[in-house]
Amino acid sequence: MQVKEENTYGKDILTLLEWEKEEILDILTLALDMKTNPADYSHALSGKILGMIFDKPSTRTRVSFEAGMLQLGGQAIVMNSKELQIGRGEPIKDTAKVLDEYLDAIMIRTFSHKSVEELASYAKIPIINGLTDEHHPCQALADLLTIFEIKDQFDGVKLAYIGDGNNVCHSLLLACAKVGLDITCATPENYAVNGEILALSQQLAEKSGSKIIQTTDAKSATNEADFIYTDVWTSMGQEEESKLRLHAFLEKYQVNETLVRYAKPNYHFLHCLPAHRGEEVTSEVIDDTEHSLIYQQAGNRLHVQKALLLTILKGSTSR
Ligand code: CP
Ligand code: NVA
Repeated sequence: MQVKEENTYGKDILTLLEWEKEEILDILTLALDMKTNPADYSHALSGKILGMIFDKPSTRTRVSFEAGMLQLGGQAIVMNSKELQIGRGEPIKDTAKVLDEYLDAIMIRTFSHKSVEELASYAKIPIINGLTDEHHPCQALADLLTIFEIKDQFDGVKLAYIGDGNNVCHSLLLACAKVGLDITCATPENYAVNGEILALSQQLAEKSGSKIIQTTDAKSATNEADFIYTDVWTSMGQEEESKLRLHAFLEKYQVNETLVRYAKPNYHFLHCLPAHRGEEVTSEVIDDTEHSLIYQQAGNRLHVQKALLLTILKGSTSR
């Protein structure tokens, strides 16, 4: 995983590894202020343009980034990669160098994480990962903000992630390890988290003091948890495996009323959305407004990404 040398155009966010704990905490603090006082920031990115490239569908990422840029006085251009020459084989290098000439930053949602690294290696302007098969760092920032709003701290907070060891889980692991949150991931053996990302998280956790555990036991993971998090069992691009995955997860990894009894009585439920009720979570759990934070969490995509955009672009070289 590479980190582009910092330049006057602003910093990338490809995995969260580029960002130190203090920088992440600063983004969260800024996000809270921007959420409370949005009018104070209404011209903060005036004249800046964010380009957004989509290779996969999106509701939250697309609308929250576009609305965020507009609320900051900037603009956003949405591009479906099928409608770009990159969809007909134009090299990433040429695309990066051309978009450098027009835009102030690029947000990209695609399949291969390597493609995003390649784009970042050629583009001078900052690249924001809006989800790859391996990482979803903007989601993890919104998750941290939501947890912080509830607990006012990360120390001693226990998060249980139940389900697929996927992009959302990877970014959550790295985010928890950076800020010092304890996380246990319970996945079926064949759907465990990526070994390299787990090892990296455990290294980071040594520094921040958090506990990172990978298990196959959903009940022990949920035991005394403050937050239970799940995501779909079949991510975008894996649709052909959906029957196989349903079979592998349904019996032991559904977040339902039986499983949540293992958590603290005042536990909270998190899900990045979109959700499949009746699969990874039952409607009794996800729609239980006493515990479920899903809409606050989705709302926080907007606030945390506005803080991220402002942090990245405030001192950047203007077009
Ligand atoms: N959580 C999330 O990234 O949602 P979208 O796929 O709708 O962007
Ligand atoms: N893991 C899911 C997340 C969607 C926001 C996917 O990649 O489809």
